[in-house]
Amino acid sequence: MPKDTEKKKSGKKAMPGIVIGVDIGGTGIKGGIVNLEKGEIVGERFRIPTPKPSTPEAVAAVVADIVQELGSRPEGPPEDVPVGVTFPAIIQHGVARSAANVDKNWLNTDVDALFTKVLGRGVHVINDADAAGLAEVRYGAGKGKLGTVLVITLGTGIGSAFIFDGKLVPNVELGHLEIDGHDAETRASAVARERDGIGWDEYAVRLQRYFSHVEFLFSPELIIVGGGISKRSADYLPELRLRTPIIPAQLRNQAGIVGGALQAALLLEPRKA
Ligand code: BGC
Repeated sequence: MPKDTEKKKSGKKAMPGIVIGVDIGGTGIKGGIVNLEKGEIVGERFRIPTPKPSTPEAVAAVVADIVQELGSRPEGPPEDVPVGVTFPAIIQHGVARSAANVDKNWLNTDVDALFTKVLGRGVHVINDADAAGLAEVRYGAGKGKLGTVLVITLGTGIGSAFIFDGKLVPNVELGHLEIDGHDAETRASAVARERDGIGWDEYAVRLQRYFSHVEFLFSPELIIVGGGISKRSADYLPELRLRTPIIPAQLRNQAGIVGGALQAALLLEPRKA
């Protein structure tokens, strides 16, 4: 039975207040218990380095360890509350449809089904930048903002979330725009800056090229810059000349965990046409 039909049949469920979120990154897999009323992580986050090679089976085992640890804490949610997991690839109906910066074995893997099986509890997987975007518009730098908000994460790659009037349009892959003959993230991600050993001024020039193009294509109301490098935003954001306000993310390294958990909870609500 398709998932949507199942949800309709099971009727309306209240959105849970406490949900486990897990953020899968290239170097670490981090989890936390999220209070969705506040958009905050309760207690310590739990992190395990990403296994190498990061095959689906190896990553699923680490996610299971993290969820088990968090789930055993007194403040953890009951087991029937689904876990929200973020993944750095296109995720459509739970299936990975790209593998730009992850082990190629992920391509076409049903990540939802794999994690649900290994964890023995409900799991919802969402693209990492989409999760960060959801968290920023609900609790952070984009709270209450109407119209088009773009959340762009600068990390190993470039992730993007497209949000309109608070609603996510999933899997918008703006890190892979082709600009000047290059896949944009190979020039303007945080890792591209480190790889090329360039300073903030030169990096700002690359970001200017990137964000001008994004602005031209989408005319957003607001651009929010996330990813680890957002804590250094004072070094490059003031250099950018755009007509759109561009500001750093507020949830920083919590955005993925919080947004993943939020999405898992939102999916319990029946969809309205
Ligand atoms: C992937 C995106 C992901 C982003 C950030 C890109 O290479 O294509 O799906 O959101 O990296 O991790």
